[in-house]
Amino acid sequence: MLGITVGAFVATFAGVAFARPLIVSSTNASSSAEPDPSFATSVKLNGVTFVNKGLVGFGLIPSDFKESTGDTLGGIGSAIALKKGTFQQNADGTFSGTFITQPDRGFNVDGTVNYQARQHVIDFVLSPYYGDVDLSFADAQKTLQLTYKSTLLYTERNDVQTSGLDPLAVRAAQSGFPNILAADPEMPIPSKSFSHLSIDAEGLALNDDGTFWTSDEYGPYIYLFDSEGHLLQTIQPPEAVLPEVKGKINFTADSDPDTGRAGNQGLEGLTLDDAGTTLYALLQTATIQDGGDDKSTSRFTRLLAFDVSNPSVRPSLVGEWVVPLPQNKKGNTLGSSELHFVHENVFLVLARDGHGHGDDDTDSSYKQADLIDISDATNIAGSKFDSPKNPIAKKGKLDKSITAATYVGFVDFIDDTQLARFGLHNDDPADQTLIDAKWESLALAPVGDPANPDDFFLFTAADNDFISTHGVSLGQPFNAGLDNDNQFLVFRVTLPTK
Ligand SMILES: *[C@@H]1O[C@H](CO)[C@@H](O)[C@H](O)[C@H]1NC(C)=O
Ligand SMILES: *[C@@H]1O[C@H](CO)[C@@H](O)[C@H](O)[C@H]1NC(C)=O
Repeated sequence: MLGITVGAFVATFAGVAFARPLIVSSTNASSSAEPDPSFATSVKLNGVTFVNKGLVGFGLIPSDFKESTGDTLGGIGSAIALKKGTFQQNADGTFSGTFITQPDRGFNVDGTVNYQARQHVIDFVLSPYYGDVDLSFADAQKTLQLTYKSTLLYTERNDVQTSGLDPLAVRAAQSGFPNILAADPEMPIPSKSFSHLSIDAEGLALNDDGTFWTSDEYGPYIYLFDSEGHLLQTIQPPEAVLPEVKGKINFTADSDPDTGRAGNQGLEGLTLDDAGTTLYALLQTATIQDGGDDKSTSRFTRLLAFDVSNPSVRPSLVGEWVVPLPQNKKGNTLGSSELHFVHENVFLVLARDGHGHGDDDTDSSYKQADLIDISDATNIAGSKFDSPKNPIAKKGKLDKSITAATYVGFVDFIDDTQLARFGLHNDDPADQTLIDAKWESLALAPVGDPANPDDFFLFTAADNDFISTHGVSLGQPFNAGLDNDNQFLVFRVTLPTK
């Protein structure tokens, strides 16, 4: 059993403590500098060729692992971000770094709970495996070793803890006098008598100064926290995105509003540009007025951009574009779970179905990190479309005045050959080697290979919904009837600027 200690705390996973990075020597993981070229698939976007060189790493944190507060460390793949300045290549050819990971609203299979939003620091060692011999599941886990370090809990300015409870009530807007940055819009709270800020955290973007942005599903808002987890300010998106019932805000995720984001279809994706001055957020699927009330009409979602260059000025909406999400064979939208900046006008978008480990249906047909380019897309920020009265895509038909972003498929997470190289699979059986259902995070780190200067490691982690047979939620043990590990995948990709 893995030990649980509060405070300075180190544990390793996969039931083995590795004193140092372990190279998969029998298959010569690091002896070749590049993946087998036969794995490569490429795609063209506005004349630029992007290459997926294949799966190069896999790791997991067991479903029953507990973090320093005593709760099950679940859901961490809701967002991951690479801590600045931590990624490095080691003398032995391995790579190491630190992830900041952010779970959503706790174990909520039987209804939402009073789970305080938080983030976890997780160190990793990547020993990329480039060979074509299928690794055992045990050896595959040595390619990405994960070590939990610590947890940071989120609070409001007055140290009151945030909550994961469904926000059935609204706290009135506050002027924030004398500090304009502290002026809050109407805020989601569980009830009038329990006025804690309700957060269902999904996106995470880190600033150089230690502060960080978190996007959520309830608002759907974007919150700025200081390095100690205190709320500093709140960004409210345009009215078209706010959940309104009869013209008034209603933040519940239990039912769909009349207009604005659909229930549980909030700001899943959040990313900063390289300069850290523009913050981008992607709504999971279309707003209700844009066709978001039905899976067959909900593909036209919105990407928002805020100018965050001046920390003493409230961020303003500077960009808003339509992203045409992919659809499955039945014509249903594959919602987006994450967004990651690549370079100006180009982003990775994680789109997927909900099948795989943790779901009743094991057979997934779409889990991809795709590419979008907004250079030719119409910027509708500040236009009539920011009012819920003017849909961009009534009943899912895009308004003729709008050009959507260009969207192309890119990195397939469920390629059978690539999964098999790491002892993994899609579809039955529903065992530990089945790929997780809910991948919701992306992070990029440069490979640093002089022969391939545009090569990056693309990290992704799954949200396991805290599903464990030995779980703990708010100090109470639970048995979710299944053990669903927190899985991580690493791909190697080429992301050229030209
Ligand atoms: C691994 O690489 C080394 C150095 O290139 C080589 O000598 C050795 O034979 C390789 N081992 C296997 C199992 O391929
Ligand atoms: C929001 O809608 C829910 C469900 O209809 C309702 O229970 C709740 O009272 C509403 N909240 C507000 C602030 O109107």
